[in-house]
Amino acid sequence: MLEIQNLTVEVSGKRILHNLNLRIGDGEVHVLFGANGSGKTTLFLTILGFPSYDVVEGKIYFKGVDITEMDTAERVKLGMGVSFQHPPEIRGVKLGDLVGRLLERRGEGDAKALAERLKLSEEFLSRDLNLGFSGGEVKRSEILQLLAQNPDFFMFDEPDSGVDVENVELIGKITNEMLERDKRPSERKKSGLIISHIGYILNYIKADRAHVMLGGRIACSGMTEEIYNQILTEGFEGCVARCGGT
Ligand SMILES: Nc1ncnc2c1ncn2[C@@H]1O[C@H](COP(=O)(O)OP(=O)(O)OP(=O)(O)O)[C@@H](O)[C@H]1O
Ligand SMILES: [Mg+2]
Repeated sequence: MLEIQNLTVEVSGKRILHNLNLRIGDGEVHVLFGANGSGKTTLFLTILGFPSYDVVEGKIYFKGVDITEMDTAERVKLGMGVSFQHPPEIRGVKLGDLVGRLLERRGEGDAKALAERLKLSEEFLSRDLNLGFSGGEVKRSEILQLLAQNPDFFMFDEPDSGVDVENVELIGKITNEMLERDKRPSERKKSGLIISHIGYILNYIKADRAHVMLGGRIACSGMTEEIYNQILTEGFEGCVARCGGT
């Protein structure tokens, strides 16, 4: 689904990602851990092709296509979707209209029913995007847009941060459904990459593999539970120092 080779990225002339390699197979869900400022969001926005993220070296392949030079709209058309850590406020764009457009593209229609699944009201759909949304509402609104878009590859940038326990459960269960994690092993599933600091969402989604980012590099990869427990007991650097993975 996604293959990143030797990726080096600069933002405003500052080198942030260094020689990064990552491979996510069809139907796999991976988790990305890492300290604040280690480069996780930068990696997401580079995968999505944001123009200010300058690929100095390396390649990004999506579904076997070299997308390194492709613009964001084309990448989205190919089947990428993201829930942002800090989505922009957009005055004049109603959440309901945006979700309606995304559904229309897929020949589906009921924004209200979809919003209800995320406990978002019709009144909420009539509000301008992210204007005055609470922290938890921002996250649910992002998940709602992903539900409407239904991409093949999902990126979630901290979907559980700042979200109360009941809403983490709601988001977790819906995310699990979106990723089709309950399908049989022989059935084709969606793929995803999840950034989570607190790991709450992992109570609802079984991730195939985890990675630890340190200083703009993927410094360790391995089994999700093992890596998560090592981070909790020994911190990021301790986990990387002991890394038994690759
Ligand atoms: N436009 C920019 N100009 C200058 N520095 C930037 C820019 N964007 C990102 N950086 C820097 O790159 C580093 C990585 O940032 P990034 O947002 O990718 O971290 P992160 O791992 O997502 O952190 P967090 O867990 O806090 O969300 C940080 O030091 C950040 O300040
Ligand atoms: Mg971030």
